[in-house]
Amino acid sequence: MALIPFDDRDGFIWFDGKMVPWREANIHVINHGLHYGSAIFEGERAYEGKIFKTVEHTNRLFKSAGILGMNITFTPDQINAAKEDALKANNLTNAYIRPVAWRGSEQMGIAAQATKTHVAIACWEWPSYFSPELREKGISLKTSPWKKPAPDMAPCHAKAAGLYMINTLSKHAAEDAGYIDALMCDYRGNPVEATGANLFRVKDGVIRTPKPDCFLNGITRQTVIELAAKLDFALEEDTITMEDLKSADEVFITGTAAEVTAIGKIDETEYQVGPVTRTLREAYESLVRGKSFSKSAAA
Ligand SMILES: Cc1ncc(COP(=O)(O)O)c(C=O)c1O
Repeated sequence: MALIPFDDRDGFIWFDGKMVPWREANIHVINHGLHYGSAIFEGERAYEGKIFKTVEHTNRLFKSAGILGMNITFTPDQINAAKEDALKANNLTNAYIRPVAWRGSEQMGIAAQATKTHVAIACWEWPSYFSPELREKGISLKTSPWKKPAPDMAPCHAKAAGLYMINTLSKHAAEDAGYIDALMCDYRGNPVEATGANLFRVKDGVIRTPKPDCFLNGITRQTVIELAAKLDFALEEDTITMEDLKSADEVFITGTAAEVTAIGKIDETEYQVGPVTRTLREAYESLVRGKSFSKSAAA
């Protein structure tokens, strides 16, 4: 299937307060965000016309901006309304939504105090990050040679564009080796994430996920932790070592794009898609669509 380039599509993008035709949502090449990575973004999904956790995503956008010292001149309410307007303008009810903010062209160089922060919101149809067949058998991960930096080495709690440089390198290395995604370890060498999703491991019925002390505390991660509590699963937030992963009964990842996705293989170790992953996946898929879910019905 031919890819449609993202700068040559029909539709509208909300751009600094105005809805502009998709192909006209452009910026100048001399731009601080592009040259120095001073950009932040969000990834959200709308299900049946309702944006899941829109307020939480907007709050994280402002938090990321604050961490990078960027001043968004719109209010969170304006951004929330803009997301709805963008969905309507594009006639979308099930969609991926991408708000992005970046420093402009007013100042060029490392210092950026005189730059203005611009904001755009695009949305498009994006059914499932991984195909249904892959989701059913679990995706494969290859451990990345790149490590997530320590909290005093990078603004790791911001969803900052620059931080994705190592994720892209990692994903390319994994794909080149025939895997679907990369497993990212933190600076201590403990596995913490895929390239766009948080990591969970299940052993003897107990779910474990690392504390987000040097990586994004995903909104899906927080949602799944709440779901696990409601469904009476034992869950601990603690370090997962490579050995813990090897001996796991089930491994899964969570993210807005990936939702709840089972892992079928990490490096040479293979895993079954188990009952805990299946239950949480169904519970999450019900929740985002505003449907009720009962563990006994799923079991
Ligand atoms: C590196 C990384 N970790 C984790 C996540 C999961 O975050 P969320 O559940 O908020 O989408 C994402 C996705 O945004 C991500 O890019």
